[in-house]
Parts: sequence; structure tokens; C-alpha cells
Amino acid sequence: MTQEIYLTGITTTGTPHIGNYVGAIRPSVVASKDANKRNYYFLADFHALAKNEDPDKINQSTLEIAAAWLALGMDTNNSVFYRQSDIPEIPELTWILTSMAAKGLMNRAHSYKAAVQSNIDGGNKDLDKGITMALYSYPILMAADILIFKATKVPVGRDQKQHVEMARDIAQRFNHHYGDVLVLPEPLIDEHTAVLVGLDGRKMSKSYKNTIPLFVPEKKFRKLIMKIKTNSLEPGEAKDIEGNALYDIYKAFATPEEMAAIERQYAEGIGWGAMKQQLFEYINDHISPARAEYNRLIADPSIIEEELQKGAVRAREVSAPYMDQIRSAIGIRKLG
Ligand code: TRP
Repeated sequence: MTQEIYLTGITTTGTPHIGNYVGAIRPSVVASKDANKRNYYFLADFHALAKNEDPDKINQSTLEIAAAWLALGMDTNNSVFYRQSDIPEIPELTWILTSMAAKGLMNRAHSYKAAVQSNIDGGNKDLDKGITMALYSYPILMAADILIFKATKVPVGRDQKQHVEMARDIAQRFNHHYGDVLVLPEPLIDEHTAVLVGLDGRKMSKSYKNTIPLFVPEKKFRKLIMKIKTNSLEPGEAKDIEGNALYDIYKAFATPEEMAAIERQYAEGIGWGAMKQQLFEYINDHISPARAEYNRLIADPSIIEEELQKGAVRAREVSAPYMDQIRSAIGIRKLG
């Protein structure tokens, strides 16, 4: 049996928040230490260009996401940790795959359709307003990320599942045309991974601006927890755990035994203020060692850069020879 290869990336827009931590960063850090697994983790900075963000913001986000990954204990010897833009084979493969990707397939991408929908909702006559070709063909770049390392399993959130399936479709079409060159990937969705609710009761997401950043100073962190929307039940009134944002966040950090105690407190009618304070203290204890390390790395980015360079060298040991093979398969070869 061939060995599974795991690969996942995080787009470098925004500051890492507790939803990213629970959904993507924590599981990847755990997997990075597994000696039986081959893992690739990367910063998707080319993807970040799709929305034409401010250059300094993209750079800052790259720094923060890399620092978060490292501070939380990513094993960069056992896994390959790199920045997308350091691997020239990725944009090269993107173009090659672009000629194998049906336009109709891209029309159906959720990310593109959501952008069109928001233009419709906003009453814009031009349905493609603000939509770049990068946003439109985003799934092709993502396919190149995945296929260049022959990844077989791609751990992603539910919202990215379709993109991985598109990578598979494109690879299939390529193989049909050029022979068996690309490895077909599969999305890996962990049904147990919590999707956290943000400050306003909607899914925690940088696009809703309702996030709780993972590594803000303690005081700010407390203030944000205190801002989480709750209902108007008073202390002493029994409270429902179902669909409660505080409960869900707690659960993403605490053990089942600890949660049994929290459930009793809900039933006994703990006040929201007291619950928030308790939640703050719990998570704060959990993340403060990593926060100290994060601050140290942010203050000395050369440590991070060195890690990324090391990762790029290791990644290119795989991507460069594979690209030679791909070029040869598509008829782009030396003439004599
Ligand atoms: N598009 C993904 C996101 O926004 C990030 C990403 C880019 C990715 N390339 C990838 C994830 C390849 C998995 C595999 O969440």
C-alpha cells in the first residue's frame, strides 16, 4: 500500500483566531508530530492576493500565522512547513492545470458563486464586480498546491471540500489526456472538529469580523470573551447548553469530565458574566505558554524565516524533480 500524504494550507489573510486554532491549527500540530505520517503544511500567500489586500497586511498575516503554528508546537522536522510563494513549481503547475480545467467547473466554485451572490444582494448591476481572475480560478491554484506534492489526503473545513474535489476532477482530466502522472487527492473532513460561533452569534470567520484572536494580550482577550453575545437569562435561571457559544468554545478546549461540571453549572443557573470569567481563565491558562513563545517569535521574525527556508528546501526536493516529469509528460521538453 502506498503511504498517505497529508497536506493543508492556511490563506494568509487576517490574524489567527480561536476558530482557526480549533479547526485547523491544533489538529495539524498534533499530526505534525506523528512519525508515521508524511505531512505538508504551508502558508497560502498567493491565495491571499485574490482579494487585493493591502501588501503590509498580507505580510503581517503571513508572519502571524507562521508564528502561531510554530508557537503551538508544529514539528518542522517531521513535517514539511513552508510558504507557498517559495515554491516556484506551484504557480508553474497552476498554469498547466489551467489548461486542463473546464471553465464550467470554475463557474460552479462556491467561493466564486458566493462573491456573485453578494453582488446580487448588494444590488450591483455588474455581477462580477470586484471579482478578480484569481478569485475565479482560486481552485486551480489550490489544485496545484495539492497535486505538486502528490497529496492523497487534504484536511480541510467543510467550506473547502468542493475545492479539493475540483482538484481531483482536474487531475483526472489531466491523467486522461497525458497518462497517469498526477495522484488523485481526497478531502479529509473531521466531523468532530468544532466550528465555533463568533462574537455576534454567526460562524467565527474573518469575513464576518466577529473573531476572537488567539494571541492578543490577556486583558484584550478577556474583554473579547466578555463581549460574546448571550441571551437575557438572569443568574439563577437554568440555561441551555444547546447552541450556546460560550459552551461550544469551552468544549473545544476542555475535557469531557470538565464539561460535565460545566453542564451542572448551566443547569444550576450560573450567570453569563461568571461563566465568561471562568471561560476566560480556562482558555487563558491553556494558551498562555504558547502566547509567550508567539510574542518571542513575532519580535524576531528571522527565526520564522529560517524555518520557512528550511521547509522550502525540503519541499522543493520533491516538487522540482516532479515538475520535470510533468513537463515531459505535456510535451514541454528540451529539443536536443
Ligand atoms: N483555500 C484554503 C482556505 O482558505 C487554504 C488553502 C490553499 C488550502 N491551498 C490549499 C487548503 C491546499 C488545503 C490544501 O482555507
